[in-house]
Amino acid sequence: MRKAINPGAVLALVLLILIGGCDSVKVTRCFTTGAVASGSAVASEVGSEVFRRGGNAFDAAVAVGFALAVVKPQAGNIGGGGFAVVREGQTGQVAALDFRETAPKAAARDMYLNDSGEVIENLSTVGALSAGVPGTVAGLHALWEKYGTMPWEDLVTIAAELADTGFVVAVSQAEMLSDYYVPLSEFPETKTLLYPAGRPPQAGDRLVLKDLAGTLFLIAAEGPRAFYTGHTADQIVACMEKNGGLITAEDLEEYLPVWRRPVHFSFDSLDVYGMPPPSSGGIILGQMLKLLEPYDHSSFTSRSPEQIHMFCEAARLAYADRAEHLGDPEFYDNPSGLLDSTYLAERRRKLPLETAGVSADVRAGNPLKYESDQTTHFSVCDTDGNMVAITVTLNANFGSRLAVDGAGFLLNSEMDDFAIKPGHPNLWGLVGSEANKIESGKRMLSSMSPTLVLKGDRPFLVLGSRGGSKIITAVAQAIIDCSRFKLPLLEIMSRPRFHHQWLPDVIFFEKGGLTEATRQKLIDKGHEVRERSAYGGLHMIMIDASGLLCAVADPRDEGAVAGY
Ligand code: GLY
Repeated sequence: MRKAINPGAVLALVLLILIGGCDSVKVTRCFTTGAVASGSAVASEVGSEVFRRGGNAFDAAVAVGFALAVVKPQAGNIGGGGFAVVREGQTGQVAALDFRETAPKAAARDMYLNDSGEVIENLSTVGALSAGVPGTVAGLHALWEKYGTMPWEDLVTIAAELADTGFVVAVSQAEMLSDYYVPLSEFPETKTLLYPAGRPPQAGDRLVLKDLAGTLFLIAAEGPRAFYTGHTADQIVACMEKNGGLITAEDLEEYLPVWRRPVHFSFDSLDVYGMPPPSSGGIILGQMLKLLEPYDHSSFTSRSPEQIHMFCEAARLAYADRAEHLGDPEFYDNPSGLLDSTYLAERRRKLPLETAGVSADVRAGNPLKYESDQTTHFSVCDTDGNMVAITVTLNANFGSRLAVDGAGFLLNSEMDDFAIKPGHPNLWGLVGSEANKIESGKRMLSSMSPTLVLKGDRPFLVLGSRGGSKIITAVAQAIIDCSRFKLPLLEIMSRPRFHHQWLPDVIFFEKGGLTEATRQKLIDKGHEVRERSAYGGLHMIMIDASGLLCAVADPRDEGAVAGY
């Protein structure tokens, strides 16, 4: 049954959010009806209000997704794409929704190379040519169509009202807008959109996005049609024509999200469901956890040199396979043996237990033998067993930096996630090959890893993160900290993260995250260890045995949890 929200109630919600009432304190909070953990206090509060009005986790997720497009313009979006892994409480069925961007029809393998075959700097990361055909609006609509109970118009209108009235700029967002002032100002449409006063906003200023409000009101009233064939489509095509991009009216009209079978594997006593290709997330997460599963962790502590070493060696092997074997399944036959137990047993023999491996000596395996700051994540669930993990992205912060004139939103720079030249590292330092070459209409490989975990048949974890290539290791560390080290939820979120991705052959760890003794032991094992700034925004919900929904937003993000 569809329940209506009256417009007055929507306005009251917007006022409530603007006046205050948003809790961004980093604690675990538990709820009895529905919970949201996201990178924005305002967006989480929007989801909570949908629960209060009788909506389910899918309704809340749709409203949160559109709200993030307003209050987190650097990552939340309608000009990008994403993935969802969801469980329907009533049937217990888990499904994966792919609303990744596609390469425009006119895209070609060498479009970012000059006549000498060299990569032309910035062409795949900045401006109109870096944008893929956006999928977010179609994706959120497909989710709502299948599982939603409240009127679409009401869910989208909340975000439209937010854009219309404006939102308060948070501290880290003000810093980011200041850092990006010069590069974003190169695009006059973007400067007008994000810097209406002609200078970076201060924390606490209100940012009003009238053009975005207009676009969202249209999407609320007309559905995805407005975006893919209506007024917004015309605006996107005009933007492409003016700025030398490739996306045409036909590309937009033909865009379709795809329901896919999730990647499913067990780890300890848990059932893990991840995103299949064109995300590498589910398979690489599965490879890392399955490679590590047989090893007794009881003599390690979380973040001990032994644990970090073992984890990074598993990551080295898994990311080598990522570079070789994964791409859009409509264009490339992803080997089904990548999670085969015999294949993984063979790979495990290459996992050095004492000393560091050398990435130059590690190549992707041959699973064919066994055939049988940029992105934002949010987690939503309810006590009916509905679970929704969604990660959306523009690729880099603010995507292509190009805003669609008059439509109030930024376009993604997702084309850079293709292997634009074999062996050339993308924005995330990832290399790729034939499997992920650019082809007309193809989806680029991703690391986004929205993930659901069940314990027996019982919902247990909803999680995912931002962080490009580091998303998969962040999610794996959270699951290991939970299952092997039995850490409490807030502790899992606060643990310093570390990362290895085969190439470069380096363990990255968050600033201040390793003791000197641990660092030295890793160096003694032969690892290169490099400190970097904090990363990831992992927003997670844990459902306890009594059904209580406990949520934590990543302390690294200016996010929050909310619920009812
Ligand atoms: N754009 C980052 C990813 O999809 O992995």
